[in-house]
Amino acid sequence: MKAAGMTVARKPPPKRSLDGAPRKNATVFLGGGRITGALLAGLRLAGYDRPIVVHDRHPGKLRQLNRQYGVTVEPNLRRALERAHFLILAVRPDSVRELLKQTKEIPHPEIAVSLAAGVRLANLRAWMGQPVHWARAMPSPVGRSGRGLTAVTFERNFPAAARREVRDLFVRVGSVLEISENKFDAFTVTYSSSHGYHALAALAGAAEELGLDRKTALAAAAHALADGILAWREGNISLNDLLREAATPGGIAATTMTSMDKSGYKRIVQRGLRAGMSRARGNADG
Ligand SMILES: NC(=O)c1ccc[n+]([C@@H]2O[C@H](COP(=O)([O-])OP(=O)(O)OC[C@H]3O[C@@H](n4cnc5c(N)ncnc54)[C@H](OP(=O)(O)O)[C@@H]3O)[C@@H](O)[C@H]2O)c1
Repeated sequence: MKAAGMTVARKPPPKRSLDGAPRKNATVFLGGGRITGALLAGLRLAGYDRPIVVHDRHPGKLRQLNRQYGVTVEPNLRRALERAHFLILAVRPDSVRELLKQTKEIPHPEIAVSLAAGVRLANLRAWMGQPVHWARAMPSPVGRSGRGLTAVTFERNFPAAARREVRDLFVRVGSVLEISENKFDAFTVTYSSSHGYHALAALAGAAEELGLDRKTALAAAAHALADGILAWREGNISLNDLLREAATPGGIAATTMTSMDKSGYKRIVQRGLRAGMSRARGNADG
């Protein structure tokens, strides 16, 4: 059903193949929320030129995505799927099962990529009940700037050409790392851009308590966290060497780090990641 008052697409109507069916040439996102918005921004920045269609149950989100990124939006699930060359499933983990159930009677593309944290390939296959090759991908909203990282994992027998297409899409928004599915939850909890924001907030907050104004505290903390890490990523000096260079034995930085470690810094990080892992495992069964 067409949502009231909504412009479904600014682009011309889909081209049809000779038999009159819509041409299956689009990358179709099911779910038009946070990660879809960030990926669309990154894909646009990178000049991704395959047609993109987004389906979501909120007409307002679709209107916004259409306005911002010029993508075709399609509030009708069947019509969205009929255009799909490949599918990107971008709903929250607890919505995956229900959505896949609704797609059972609809012809599918052969290739689908799920972004849903914790939801396993075996479940995706079982819930969809159609012969679809599934991959999982774990990008982050940082892909918006083209500087993200995406982990991918593929079902066995995932066609080689389709693997290249999946990598080719995510490489537009940053680096791509292929890992086995049993490492996916650990990667997911480790690779959240929230860690950086969380550390920034904690460090800047502590600096404010020492008397820095908010702006200076944020600038100092952001440079402290980002500059060194960029230097490590872009250079070839080991992390241990960089740590030694930044913290003279017995000096201020070393004293600060030792005190943090004695107060349980590493233990707190480990505990946080373990909590994230069990949350991810809780997503597995929908
Ligand atoms: N956000 C991130 O940083 C990030 C990073 C990597 C992976 N992911 C994964 O990506 C997925 C999406 O995350 P998100 O943060 O983008 O979620 P989100 O902002 O909540 O977006 C999901 C969208 O899909 C809609 N939706 C859910 N079920 C639907 C259905 N049956 N038919 C049509 N639309 C439906 C939701 O509507 P309702 O709100 O009404 O449900 C919502 O608009 C999650 O599985 C997450 O694990 C997210």
